[in-house]
Amino acid sequence: MSASTRRIGSLTVSALGLGAMPLSMGRGEPAPHDRAMATLHAALDAGITLLDTADIYAPSWDTTGHNEQLVGEALRSWDGDRSQVVVATKGGITRSAEGGGRDGSAAYLRSALERSLTALGMDSVDLYYWHRPDRSIRYADAVEALAGFQQEGLIREVGISNANVEEIDVAREVLGEGGLAAVQNEFSPTFFHTSRRELEHCGEHGIAFVPWSPLGGTGGGAAAVGERFPQIQRIAEAHAVSPQQVVLAWELALGEHVIPIPGASRPESITDSAQAMSLQLSDVDLAELNQIIL
Ligand SMILES: NC(=O)c1ccc[n+]([C@@H]2O[C@H](COP(=O)([O-])OP(=O)(O)OC[C@H]3O[C@@H](n4cnc5c(N)ncnc54)[C@H](OP(=O)(O)O)[C@@H]3O)[C@@H](O)[C@H]2O)c1
Repeated sequence: MSASTRRIGSLTVSALGLGAMPLSMGRGEPAPHDRAMATLHAALDAGITLLDTADIYAPSWDTTGHNEQLVGEALRSWDGDRSQVVVATKGGITRSAEGGGRDGSAAYLRSALERSLTALGMDSVDLYYWHRPDRSIRYADAVEALAGFQQEGLIREVGISNANVEEIDVAREVLGEGGLAAVQNEFSPTFFHTSRRELEHCGEHGIAFVPWSPLGGTGGGAAAVGERFPQIQRIAEAHAVSPQQVVLAWELALGEHVIPIPGASRPESITDSAQAMSLQLSDVDLAELNQIIL
């Protein structure tokens, strides 16, 4: 395995993925279609082989599947080797004219997965996450539903998202040791306290830990990370790279099981972020970053 690949269960992926959400929602209007395709193709051309999407990533409640459709279309129109690309999507959050909700019932998850397969234009999904806990049901019940989808061949690997240590352990128990492939939680220099235990716990159990909003999110955190943390800016200048690359390289150095998925709505952002896979921070840099962030 090369230095820039990591494992999610049985899958090999680039050390960084692309978070496709900002193509469909976030600040303002969704990305124009041409730019969305260019962004996804730029990620793939830069060696990124993990594309992260979800059914609810859409400009409005009645355009669910928008982001999955973009991901599916970009893969079909890319001239590289699609067989190496891992697509991850999620289900379990509902959107309606009245607002958002959660539904972790087996029946809902099955219908959501079927809609995702249609939107992606695929027969199976490489990695399927339960998006957010539905605390009106037993946690184990939803994980059992995902295990059933895996046995049917509809999904290759099972993940959970926005999960605490106790929920990770329930999923491990249901799926058996090695059965839970990934945990996707929020984690960045501006948001790390509530996911540190989970990051470490995943490392102890061979589970990929996938930081979402790894740069601080589309609300301005990602763009301003250098201004907010002058030390990150200084380290970036010393290496002649962007502060976003420094953040991603720091996260990658937290463990071989850590696979951040920086979002992008422009090709330039993801082309720049992808270079963090080859950025070598020194021990002194990492010690300083750990001191100011952790
Ligand atoms: N599981 C969950 O509950 C959950 C929740 C939220 C998000 N997610 C996933 O996590 C992914 C990442 O999170 P996120 O998109 O919210 O936040 P993020 O990755 O922290 O920030 C994304 C923003 O960073 C900017 N950016 C990225 N690389 C950059 C660079 N090198 N230089 C300057 N700016 C850069 C992008 O700008 P441009 O838009 O201008 O390109 C984008 O708007 C999402 O796309 C989604 O797939 C999961």
